[in-house]
Parts: sequence; structure tokens; C-alpha cells
Amino acid sequence: MEGTNNGFCHDILIGTKLKGTKLKAPDADDAKEDLLEKEGWLNLSAYIVSKAALNAYSRILAKKFTAFRVNAVSPGFCKTDLSHNNGQFTAEEGARGPVRMALIPADGPSGKFFYQMEESAL
Ligand SMILES: NC(=O)c1ccc[n+]([C@@H]2O[C@H](COP(=O)([O-])OP(=O)(O)OC[C@H]3O[C@@H](n4cnc5c(N)ncnc54)[C@H](OP(=O)(O)O)[C@@H]3O)[C@@H](O)[C@H]2O)c1
Repeated sequence: MEGTNNGFCHDILIGTKLKGTKLKAPDADDAKEDLLEKEGWLNLSAYIVSKAALNAYSRILAKKFTAFRVNAVSPGFCKTDLSHNNGQFTAEEGARGPVRMALIPADGPSGKFFYQMEESAL
């Protein structure tokens, strides 16, 4: 993300704990030549980066749109197609947190991260 004028990435780096983190996508050549570790890049998978961006962006949206409740919620490790049914919880158990978030009242939390039903620090 370093060296980009992309406002989304800029907001995330400035608005979150990622500030100061060297989080630049390595060049394809770095990966090909097995230089990721040598060059000091965090070897983060696209999935992990997408979740970090999602969590950060939910906080940015919560700040910008105060009339809305914007939160991020993890269902926990669930038995779904994504996990090849290897999860700890059923899909129904995992759905409880997101459903609760969808039903929170207008004065409910915003800009928070929840692990299942509980608010959690990122
Ligand atoms: N499972 C876990 O352990 C776990 C843990 C933490 C977070 N999460 C997150 O929870 C979310 C749901 O995960 P999951 O485990 O339920 O995954 P999943 O079993 O792979 O199901 C994903 C669902 O998303 C739908 N989908 C995919 N691409 C779509 C698109 N472009 N437009 C509309 N729908 C689309 C799929 O529809 P089709 O069935 O029609 O393809 C499917 O119903 C994901 O964001 C995942 O990262 C999951």
C-alpha cells in the first residue's frame, strides 16, 4: 500500500493501528525470487490483509456516518465451505453474532469489532 495515492489505503494507514506499519504489496518479482523474508516484507496472505482492511474500513465508515451503526464481526472458526467444514462452530452458531449486529438498536455500538457476541479488541 505504500507509495499509493489511493484514498482508501491512506485512510486505513492513518486511521488505524496500522499507522507506521510497512505494509506494501511486494513486487511479483520479490515473490518469484523468494525475497519476501529477505526484503523484510510481512508475508501476509491476501485473506488476512482483506480482513484487516475490512476492520479498519468499518471504523472509518463509523466515524464518517454517525447516523449509522457500522461494526465488524467475526463468526469464529465455523464449519462452512470456506473452512472445508473444519471449523469449531456450526454455521448457525457462527451466524448469531452477525445477526445480532444486524439487529442492534439505533443507539447501539458503532466502530467496534466483535468476536461472535462479544466486543473484542482488534
Ligand atoms: N468460516 C469461518 O471459519 C470464518 C471465520 C471468520 C470469518 N469468516 C468470514 O465470514 C464470511 C462468510 O464465510 P463463510 O464461511 O460462510 O464462507 P462460505 O461458506 O464460502 O460462504 C460464502 C457465501 O458468500 C456467497 N458469496 C460469495 N461471493 C459472493 C458474491 N460475489 N456475491 C454474493 N454472494 C457471494 C456465497 O454464495 P454461493 O454459495 O452462492 O457461492 C456463499 O453463500 C466471509 O467473509 C468469511 O471470511 C468465516
